[in-house]
Amino acid sequence: MVLTAQEFDVVIIGGGPAGYAAALRGGLAGLNIAVVEKDKVGGTCLHRGCIPAKEFLETATVYRTVIGAEEFGIIADPPVIEFAQSQARKQKVVDQLWTGLQGLMKKRKVTTFNGVGSLGAGHKVTVDDGTELVGKHVILASGSIPRTIPGFEVDGRLVLTSDEVLDLERLPASAVVIGGGAIGCEFASMLSDLGCKVTVLEALPKILPGCDKDVADVVARSFKKRGIEVRTGVAVTGHAPSDDGSSTTVSFGEGESVTVEAVVVSVGRRPCSANLGLDGTAVEVDGRGFVVVDEYMRTAEPGVFAAGDLVDTPALAHVGFAEAVVVIDQILGDKVIPVDYTKVPWCIYCHPEVAFAGLSEEAAREAGFDVVTKKDPFGGNGRALIVGEPEGMVKVIAEKLPDGKAGRILGVHMVGPWVTEQLGQGYLAVNWEATPTEVGQYIQPHPTLSETFGETVLALTGRGLHVG
Ligand code: NAI
Repeated sequence: MVLTAQEFDVVIIGGGPAGYAAALRGGLAGLNIAVVEKDKVGGTCLHRGCIPAKEFLETATVYRTVIGAEEFGIIADPPVIEFAQSQARKQKVVDQLWTGLQGLMKKRKVTTFNGVGSLGAGHKVTVDDGTELVGKHVILASGSIPRTIPGFEVDGRLVLTSDEVLDLERLPASAVVIGGGAIGCEFASMLSDLGCKVTVLEALPKILPGCDKDVADVVARSFKKRGIEVRTGVAVTGHAPSDDGSSTTVSFGEGESVTVEAVVVSVGRRPCSANLGLDGTAVEVDGRGFVVVDEYMRTAEPGVFAAGDLVDTPALAHVGFAEAVVVIDQILGDKVIPVDYTKVPWCIYCHPEVAFAGLSEEAAREAGFDVVTKKDPFGGNGRALIVGEPEGMVKVIAEKLPDGKAGRILGVHMVGPWVTEQLGQGYLAVNWEATPTEVGQYIQPHPTLSETFGETVLALTGRGLHVG
């Protein structure tokens, strides 16, 4: 018996943020959608990334808050970490979101196929159980996996990536984190807050290399104060496990070493394009494995798009969402605005938190802008003192006008309490290409942490109440 391929308006390979966002938006608009997912819908973000990582960072915050409660006159017994309970709570949050997502996909009449999908000629997607699907359009959204480095074979015990850290059954007493980017800083912060002795080894001259230097410096100083050892500009050369396998000695730099119970490798992620098939299609994959797309997420094969971590754009769930919208709106024939990657919001949930949108001071100068900048520390903010989090600041970068005054806002960079929740105004200002005068006229409620953003912008107009 010859089975004919099932036909859909859109077949999506990968049910992570880019894939499921495309499915939900397309389903809502009445498109008949199939998603092929080899594991669970929700992808890295929901099961091995953003959600479980931030849940653990919240556990770390709760522990830190209880330890610091005495300052507020609250005397509690020294807190004890029941890590199994923390794991269970994390899983409950993940599962609740997963259940919700599956329900939503059902409601939007999205058909999900479990398995590995590969694309061939004629928009045909074959699932590894033999099922054949044909889409009028196909979206490749198979995501990414952690990169590893030679000499650090991931064994899930001594050498871990983010995938394994989030499933630990007990916390290591000591750890080396290789790579001081977003994931490295989040894990270093979390592990340290939960009592682990952490050393960060970063190859570049500073941690958080994509961030404004002033912001990265605040994080580096905070880490140092909390006993996290940060070594920058060092090459990691290998590691030697102890005879009983309970620890390993990591060598780095000029003959230095540190012995720890766990090594967390967080040196970036690489795209999962190897099992996509693509024979008989014009889809191009570059030397690093990214599927090549234009600003409308179109591959070289007509009707085939790619989005999310599979393409060479910031590996952020919300960028995947935005790219999915670009694709579906195009399929629907709606007006499409490509994503402006220079202005997307970034949030890093280490302690202190980091959030930014737009150009850093260094990047703005490199791009040829003459700039004016202002910084306002949270140390002068009433709410920050109330919540006991005065560390950090807001920095705003604006284009310098010929008269020396501040023109369009190019970048908003924040580090400190709850800045990931405060970035919204900054993101809007940067994307609106607003000037400090335009933004500065708006009232910030008092007392709030967001007054610091308001003050920084006002300072750029020369009329700051507290900042000169
Ligand atoms: P990353 O690219 O942000 O940072 C990797 C760091 O490792 C860089 O600082 C790099 O210089 C360093 N590095 C590379 N090779 C090294 C070596 N051999 N020895 C020492 N250092 C080395 O990658 P990360 O942190 O793994 O995150 C991956 C992606 O996930 C990021 O691109 C980010 O977009 C995304 N992400 C975003 C988060 C957020 O926004 N909150 C949180 C977690 C991940």
